[in-house]
Amino acid sequence: MANFTTRVYNFNAGPAMLPTEVMEKAQGEFLNYQGTGMSVMEMSHRGKHFQDILDKSVHDLRKLLSIPDRYGVVYFPGGATLQFSAIPLNYLGEGDSADFALTGVWAVKAREEAKKFYPNVNIIFDGKDSGYMNLPTITDASVSDKAKYVYITSNNTIYGTRYSTLPKLTKAPLIADMTSELLSRKLNVEDFSVIFAGAQKNIGPSGLTVVIFDKEKLPQVSHPIPNLMNYILMEKNGSLYNTPPTYSIYIAGLVYSWLLERGGLEEMEKQNEKKAALLYDAIDSSSLYNAPVPKPFRSTMNVVFRMKDTKLDEKFLELAEANGLAGLKGYRDMGGFRASIYNAMPLAGVETLVSFMKEFEKTKA
Ligand SMILES: Cc1ncc(COP(=O)(O)O)c(C=O)c1O
Repeated sequence: MANFTTRVYNFNAGPAMLPTEVMEKAQGEFLNYQGTGMSVMEMSHRGKHFQDILDKSVHDLRKLLSIPDRYGVVYFPGGATLQFSAIPLNYLGEGDSADFALTGVWAVKAREEAKKFYPNVNIIFDGKDSGYMNLPTITDASVSDKAKYVYITSNNTIYGTRYSTLPKLTKAPLIADMTSELLSRKLNVEDFSVIFAGAQKNIGPSGLTVVIFDKEKLPQVSHPIPNLMNYILMEKNGSLYNTPPTYSIYIAGLVYSWLLERGGLEEMEKQNEKKAALLYDAIDSSSLYNAPVPKPFRSTMNVVFRMKDTKLDEKFLELAEANGLAGLKGYRDMGGFRASIYNAMPLAGVETLVSFMKEFEKTKA
């Protein structure tokens, strides 16, 4: 078990806590990677050592998610937000339309970006009036006849909602932003044409994005696509069209090894369900705290909660910090609290948070 005497339990939504074992491994080989006398950060991205790091990371990610060969696995720079532009440019042509399920700010931003280039993009669900506390059930019947794809955000980081059962469509390809949940639960990749995730939650450092896409479902578009957003070009070049974020890819690879050593996604899912249940149960059984998200839509990654008396918010956060529980402040427009409990958060971290919350309720409220 990692030594937490110098590290806090970090509940930040992202950049977020990474496994301590991964950080220690990186620290151990920081100055001299496997006898090369240099840091991974100092290596040529065209050299053998980095190529091995890149190949192993893609291999391990394929293994973790059982990604079929017909899917490309590509690292992109530019964060998840770059994909908001890249997806419509790769998948739509002039006059085309796509269906968007607006389950929060990130989906809204993705749609706005698509709309700049393709004014016909459509909305099939808008959760704004419910404060994004609800998610739709998306079936073939929800899909517009002209939609070239359906776009969802599978886990809504800000609101703490997720699709407990992910849609399965035959009428149109499904594209999912899985930034705040990829690698936290088992997944059938073949249900999606594109899955993408910014790395800063469950994968590694921010700025790096993983894109997994079905090469057979990628349309031939007639307009030019900027090189760094071009799925075919980036895949053909094995994520090495330009100098990629090499150190971030190395860390992502260490995270994948860490996951494989711990039984892969099946085991992670079990642990994540357990951690989330512990926290939601503590909130639901308290008379001070409440969780605004209806039970069927609750995320196992981002647990949003509030206190009935908001005057105590500041005191709660101050004391939490003093007790080594960092990053619990809710998203800026949401107020309240959010505990992001990604893969790297140990059960002990959630147990410590629950004890703290109970103690606070008993003595300070
Ligand atoms: C679900 C989701 N999508 C997209 C983003 C944007 O990611 P980035 O800042 O890497 O562009 C975030 C950021 O946290 C997110 O949570």
